[in-house]
Amino acid sequence: MLPSQTLLHTAVFALTVLQALASDTFIAAVYEHAVILPDAADEPVSPEDALALMNKNMDVLEEAIKEAAQQGAHIIVTPEDGIYGWRFTREAIYPYLEDIPDPAVNWIPCTDPTRFARAPVQERLSCMARNNSIYVVANIGDKKLCNSSDPSCPSDGHYQYNTNVVFDSEGKLVARYHKYNLFMSEIQFNYPKEPEAITFETSFGKFGIFTCFDILFREPAVVLVSELQVDTVLFPTAWMNVLPFLTAVEFHSAWAMGMGVNFLAADTHYTNMSMTGSGIYAPDGARTYYYNMKTEDGRLLVAELDSHPRRSPASLPAVNWSSYALSVGRFSPNDHDFGGLIFHDWFTFTELTKPGGNLTVCQKDLCCHLSYKMAGKQEDEVYVLGAFDGLHVVEGQYYLQICTLLKCKSTDPSTCGKPVETAQTKFERFSLSGTFGTNYVFPEVLYSGVQLAPGEFEVLNDGRLISKTRPTKPVVTVTLFGRWYEKDHLKQDPQPPAFP
Ligand SMILES: *[C@@H]1O[C@H](CO)[C@@H](O)[C@H](O)[C@H]1NC(C)=O
Ligand SMILES: *[C@@H]1O[C@H](CO)[C@@H](O)[C@H](O)[C@H]1NC(C)=O
Ligand SMILES: *[C@@H]1O[C@H](CO)[C@@H](O)[C@H](O)[C@H]1NC(C)=O
Ligand SMILES: *[C@@H]1O[C@H](CO)[C@@H](O)[C@H](O)[C@H]1NC(C)=O
Ligand SMILES: *[C@@H]1O[C@H](CO)[C@@H](O)[C@H](O)[C@H]1NC(C)=O
Repeated sequence: MLPSQTLLHTAVFALTVLQALASDTFIAAVYEHAVILPDAADEPVSPEDALALMNKNMDVLEEAIKEAAQQGAHIIVTPEDGIYGWRFTREAIYPYLEDIPDPAVNWIPCTDPTRFARAPVQERLSCMARNNSIYVVANIGDKKLCNSSDPSCPSDGHYQYNTNVVFDSEGKLVARYHKYNLFMSEIQFNYPKEPEAITFETSFGKFGIFTCFDILFREPAVVLVSELQVDTVLFPTAWMNVLPFLTAVEFHSAWAMGMGVNFLAADTHYTNMSMTGSGIYAPDGARTYYYNMKTEDGRLLVAELDSHPRRSPASLPAVNWSSYALSVGRFSPNDHDFGGLIFHDWFTFTELTKPGGNLTVCQKDLCCHLSYKMAGKQEDEVYVLGAFDGLHVVEGQYYLQICTLLKCKSTDPSTCGKPVETAQTKFERFSLSGTFGTNYVFPEVLYSGVQLAPGEFEVLNDGRLISKTRPTKPVVTVTLFGRWYEKDHLKQDPQPPAFP
């Protein structure tokens, strides 16, 4: 072989390796921000006062962005409502809004601030991204004029949207997403007419974006992952924690695992409303997370992730969530089942009376099987296995199929399902499965003290959620949280199921 050819081969090989290295992993950052809130008032403030408050919040975000960039982060996510809070009427939020153009206009607000209407917030965010060579993800408010030619135009002549924006490392606006599933109390904003599935490509993977309550619904969240095949989801949120299943770090990490994507969640920090819980989650578990109900501090998290988690050797094989559960019969009789409410849903429970064994509990079409062994059964702690198969109708309507192992609040069975944060009981092992009718199941494991268990559990491709090692801390809950999107529009059952 000629030396020049060898050289060429070597060069091509080196280049390929370099390209692969350049995009194999990236460094992600999220910032949990203790938002400086405006005074609670229904009257609109002046645009100057609105900007002054937003600048105070952006001063804090800027420090976090600089610090993240210094630590080598390629992208940073900041929380929903992170620049002005959430205490608004429709009129009162108006002075905080800017007209955010479609990113197709190819705009760097930092270098061309006067191209469109005045937009000091977009300009400053763009400069923070550009100055620090980092992608910046933020949540701000968009306003769009409309008139009587549009029959749904609000009477005040414009739409107001809860909006995520992304500026690339040169400060260019590369994504704009209008939140589709507004939470009940967001009276200050309009619903967009159609869901938007917003993605953008980078040298470190394909990104999708949505906001807070969107995570419970099919559009656009599931579409971004299942159809548009994003690698990483960006998730600004103002999440109010609800145990046992919907605490931020628990549910967001479970969504990442269930969907097989990276997930960057930035929560606001406001303990009075149970808002805390941010994290950098990979499909096989949390890389880092933050949960703090004790102080009012913000926190920067930084961690490395695979750019293409679906292509990595560790990525989950396709899971058939019902395969194991359908292959076995009932483990135990249903003589001692009882009912109880969890976050307004009527579950069927059976108690774990022995230190180890196999149990089954069923509700409607869902049967949940548990095999377990406790290291020692505490007399003063009661655990149950629970099943729920039905339409949830409080604070949003969504169909759930849930199998759960959880600790009751006290030894009184009527407290099962009430929020519990701590436990003493250690398990040797657990294996939970269910006869799910949906492919969308999110596996949750929460230890005492609202702690996650990265690396200590896994999902087998027959749908069993199992401990990989002996759990290192006492268990609060182990849950398979299933969402059956096709059934969201059904009518609620007239009555809860009957019990023996
Ligand atoms: C960006 O950097 C320039 C030059 O260092 C500085 O003048 C400007 O204030 C910076 N802006 C922001 C938003 O960091
Ligand atoms: C009403 O809005 C439409 C669509 O935005 C625009 O094309 C039209 O010029 C507007 N009409 C008036 C009278 O402003
Ligand atoms: C939280 O609520 C308590 C009691 O209502 C109040 O004293 C405190 O100032 C609030 N904290 C914040 C950060 O708003
Ligand atoms: C999952 O497994 C069950 C039981 O083996 C089988 O009946 C079902 O068709 C499988 N579902 C899918 C989507 O492959
Ligand atoms: C539970 O089931 C497993 C496997 O099916 C079996 O090996 C074990 O003996 C059972 N344990 C009890 C206590 O019944």
